[in-house]
Amino acid sequence: MDTEWIRNFSIIAHIDHGKSTLADRLLLRCGAISEREFRDQFLDDMDLEREMGITIKANRATLEYEYPGPQSGSGPRPRAAAPGSTSPAVGTYALNLLDTPGHVDFHYEVSRALAACEGVLLLVDAVQGIEAQTLANAYKAIAANLKIIPVINKIDLPAARPEDIALELEHVLGLPASDALFASAKTGVGVEEILQAIVERIPPPLGSPEESLKALIYDAKADPHRGVVCHVRVMDGVLHKADKVLLMAAGRVHQVSDLGVCTPKLTSRPELSAGDVGYFFAGIKTIHDVNIGDTVTLDGRPCPEPLPGYRPPQQMVFCDFYPGPGTTSAQLREAIEKLWLNDSSFNFTPAASPALGVGFRCGFLGLLHMKIVQERLERESEIDVVQTAPTVGFEILYKDGVTRILESPADLPPPEQIEEIREPYVRADLILPSRFIGGVMKLSESRRGAHQRTEYLSPERVVLTYEFPLAEVIYDYFDRLKSVTSGYGTMDYELIGFRADDLVKLNILVNSIPVDALSVIVHRSRAEYRGRRLITRLKKEIDRHLFEIPIQAAVGNRIIARETIKPVRKDVTAKCYGGDITRKRKLLEKQKAGKKRMKQVGKVAIPQSAFMAVLDTSE
Ligand code: GTP
Repeated sequence: MDTEWIRNFSIIAHIDHGKSTLADRLLLRCGAISEREFRDQFLDDMDLEREMGITIKANRATLEYEYPGPQSGSGPRPRAAAPGSTSPAVGTYALNLLDTPGHVDFHYEVSRALAACEGVLLLVDAVQGIEAQTLANAYKAIAANLKIIPVINKIDLPAARPEDIALELEHVLGLPASDALFASAKTGVGVEEILQAIVERIPPPLGSPEESLKALIYDAKADPHRGVVCHVRVMDGVLHKADKVLLMAAGRVHQVSDLGVCTPKLTSRPELSAGDVGYFFAGIKTIHDVNIGDTVTLDGRPCPEPLPGYRPPQQMVFCDFYPGPGTTSAQLREAIEKLWLNDSSFNFTPAASPALGVGFRCGFLGLLHMKIVQERLERESEIDVVQTAPTVGFEILYKDGVTRILESPADLPPPEQIEEIREPYVRADLILPSRFIGGVMKLSESRRGAHQRTEYLSPERVVLTYEFPLAEVIYDYFDRLKSVTSGYGTMDYELIGFRADDLVKLNILVNSIPVDALSVIVHRSRAEYRGRRLITRLKKEIDRHLFEIPIQAAVGNRIIARETIKPVRKDVTAKCYGGDITRKRKLLEKQKAGKKRMKQVGKVAIPQSAFMAVLDTSE
């Protein structure tokens, strides 16, 4: 197909602003799904992705749209005439809707998906207005030089204030308020105008079918029966069935067994040409043989240069998984391997802790990614997992000039080998009602945040930009932000690099045994405070035993804080007089349930919650 008839676009939005609903609405209008399938989307609220506020629905399709020519539009607001531009030809267009992941941990994947488009619909809730991810995603679209069509959604709601929000967008992002379309994905109002605007405002793809093949892998999924499906945007050249393709960053050659487009079902086609978006299978067995952002070219006739911007996934948050009671190491390994086959961005290596036994050290893109993996492990394989507190990857500069990423505080080399310990930093945009500025600034300063700037979206709403050590925000900063702002604050952050500081390892000893899973790396000025807080928390989390348990915090050989858990001597079943067997059994059952997610360290049982207490930095 001549590229003049193609438009490639994504929908970008903050969570819950209606991205999936609008995608389904566009699919419905173009005949890709039925009325019943459209209604179903409103029902599937309960799955994991829903709970965690991320989308893995099929927001990806090639749509056929009959463009009727420029019209004034019958929606809630006439479309602004595109100044100076010649209007596109009347006829049938292929509109390729590309899916972008919705969460802060998947920044890189979002930017790759955007690199495959020429334009985006920037969807904003007509009641909530601009939120942190609205901004983060809009900045990415601007950086990728994409045409942005602002769409104000949910205008059916009584509290909708679309004009105000269009002005906010103009003020903060410089998108003219008159360009904004008003719509309701729920009722369908304004959807026709959106489709027309896609054809009129987003430029057709550039690129030539004559050139050698150059295609961008913007997403990949494991298919249980057919191997890995790669989702691609062809930039130049043509991809055919049976072609031998080279994945340039991976350096591997595969033969294409099937290719086509998503309608949204995978639908075979004979070829994908410059400008097209589609999928291919090439006998690729695991998701780890494919990298998002890699360039696909022909083995015999490669393109001279890969597409720019490729980088391998970078794990930033680490934790250990150990088998809980009733689960063996082998079962845990099997479960982790199974999951790993479906997720290209987490990694794992065996880990043995003197205190906790044999488990696995895993790396994740971020905290949400970690939570998803942990939940899936337990749900999909029905095993018990004890998880240690997440830590960030510190960069260690050794005296001999070598740098290495330290995935676990337990592996910190002795001080005499270390030149510098560097910690990862993020830049965070916080959006909140201006009346909460004071509280948020206080909270942020307590987390070693450095204020960068303050910008008003309107007199009532403000964007605060901070730089934080990642370690200070990963655990509960977001929850604290929500509580300080009565639920209104939103945040998005991006890694900006590593910075050296005066960091030390805080060791925790339970009953005189050092528990590496509880050790943390902290700023020296905060070591004593954190140590004290930590052992106070541990004292609450660990049950009394039949003996006294000392809990100590230490930096090097110096004990900086100590607590003692007093012994308990009572036999809990004694008061049942040995008579009431059902009551006794109930008590034992209860004790057994309580022991779930416990880990035995020497003679002491430590519950899962204690391992998570480590990163609770709240004041
Ligand atoms: P994630 O899947 O969490 O990323 O959210 P999303 O942006 O895809 O939002 P989704 O389409 O799931 O919509 C979020 C909620 O808003 C759902 O309850 C929708 O039914 C509702 N919603 C979406 N569009 C509209 C609209 O135009 N009007 C109203 N009243 N509700 C809408």
